[in-house]
Amino acid sequence: MSPDAGGQSSLSMARWNFLRTFIRDRNMVGSVTPTSRRVARRMAQLGGVEQASAVAELGPGTGAITRELLAMMPASSRLWAFELHPLFVQHLGKTVTDPRFILVAESAEMVARVDTGAIEAGFDAIISSIPFRLLSPDLTHRILDDAAKALRPGAPFVTIQYHPSYLLPYIREHFAEVTRHPSVWNIPPATLFRARNVPAAR
Ligand SMILES: C[S@@+](CC[C@H](N)C(=O)[O-])C[C@H]1O[C@@H](n2cnc3c(N)ncnc32)[C@H](O)[C@@H]1O
Repeated sequence: MSPDAGGQSSLSMARWNFLRTFIRDRNMVGSVTPTSRRVARRMAQLGGVEQASAVAELGPGTGAITRELLAMMPASSRLWAFELHPLFVQHLGKTVTDPRFILVAESAEMVARVDTGAIEAGFDAIISSIPFRLLSPDLTHRILDDAAKALRPGAPFVTIQYHPSYLLPYIREHFAEVTRHPSVWNIPPATLFRARNVPAAR
């Protein structure tokens, strides 16, 4: 992250870039404002990223969640971030200079197919803010299917959604366990889902 990445001017720039991109492509962005710091931290905690060596983020936008993930992740870890919108890719490329951050300008449905080099067991967590409610059911299934395949057994998939239950039946098709965590500390109020597949017994 750049030295002033937490400063007021870069945060205002991030908010402005976010709003500008929402106005142009509201169906892809899905929210007027970036995720709040409090909710971003909660997502990092639900993902257990303080213990992780490899994390994937889906839809980083201007980096509101990215910043909190990197703040909590170990020094030796890596964060792969999948962002499709060119304006956000440009913004992240300029503002996130942390050497642990790897920007992938691809759709989230590529998360199981990206070359992660040394990581064989899969990601230790996947953190998503993809606006699934605005996507087709087919694309939603493809992203969730890829996420389930990209995680090591038992590792969590955490996602923020603005509808309290829309995504639940989709998640249940791809993950064995799901918990729901409502949060009013966001504009708009959000629901966090934490899902995982239980490792096979030996
Ligand atoms: C609600 S915004 C969240 C942005 C940021 N993570 C935050 O929480 O403030 C949704 C993000 O998902 C991205 N997105 C939408 N569809 C995507 C896809 N198929 N693959 C990767 N990113 C996608 C959008 O460009 C946008 O950055």
